[in-house]
Amino acid sequence: MIRLVISNQRGGVAKTTTAVILARSFAAKGRKVLLIDTDSQGSIRTILGLKPEFHLADFLIRNMAFRECVVHACENVDVVCSNRDTTEAEVTLSNSPFRELTFERLFSEHEDAYDVILIDVAPSITLSQQCAMVYAQQVLVPVGMETLSLQGAVAAVNAAAALNRFFKKGLNVRTIGLLPVMVDRRLALTSMVLDSLKQLSADTGVPVLPVIRTDSAVPKAARVRKFLADFDPNSKALADYNDVASLLLKSLDSQHERSEANEPAQAKSA
Ligand SMILES: Nc1ncnc2c1ncn2[C@@H]1O[C@H](COP(=O)(O)OP(=O)(O)OP(=O)(O)O)[C@@H](O)[C@H]1O
Ligand SMILES: [Mg+2]
Repeated sequence: MIRLVISNQRGGVAKTTTAVILARSFAAKGRKVLLIDTDSQGSIRTILGLKPEFHLADFLIRNMAFRECVVHACENVDVVCSNRDTTEAEVTLSNSPFRELTFERLFSEHEDAYDVILIDVAPSITLSQQCAMVYAQQVLVPVGMETLSLQGAVAAVNAAAALNRFFKKGLNVRTIGLLPVMVDRRLALTSMVLDSLKQLSADTGVPVLPVIRTDSAVPKAARVRKFLADFDPNSKALADYNDVASLLLKSLDSQHERSEANEPAQAKSA
């Protein structure tokens, strides 16, 4: 089971794009994927043209059954969509005890039907984002080729570290990769941002993943409400995302195997 939050505290840096394209890439590799939108903008619903009857808030605070709040987007991909009610749900949940554990409490019951859970979040740190980080414990940070995006990436890495401090030893949220997105090497700023990313990687120990190139097919696919793989299977951004998906599967799968192998040993020593 792979759980991953796609986060950057800056807006418009391809968080939703990355979540949607990676979901489809994992699905094409035979993994069953649950994609959860926690951003009240509800962008996943919009860019995939989904028409859910119920949304995340209905599942979180209105006791709707999970299966009622999921829409099937394509083979192997289910989506929990978001809308403005997510903000209301966050206000309601903010008064509940152990509120950061809400996703852990509600989604873990249903996760066995999936191999991968991907969570898209808003650019600001919301309660949903904290819940998502506590539940998934792994964060992927897309970074656009501009300075504010880099600052947003630093803020996302720090937010994960802050949660770990808050929960002391009970939590280990890890940023598993910095993903350069919308990369156009003809632009002067690109090499500067890539250099800064290398420095951030050296400072934090978080690896920089292979880049995703700028590709006009990405916004075009969103405009016609299609997955990029269905709109333009030869798109260069898709090829880049597929490479990253393979890399992530390899490293997260092997990590999972390692932790499973350690479990009996830990149990023995306990
Ligand atoms: N590789 C790419 N090439 C060209 N355009 C891209 C690429 N990736 C994303 N975009 C475009 O960048 C814009 C912002 O992307 P997206 O909505 O995924 O960002 P976001 O980080 O989720 O934004 P927000 O913070 O508002 O949720 C969209 O118009 C999207 O189509
Ligand atoms: Mg988004």
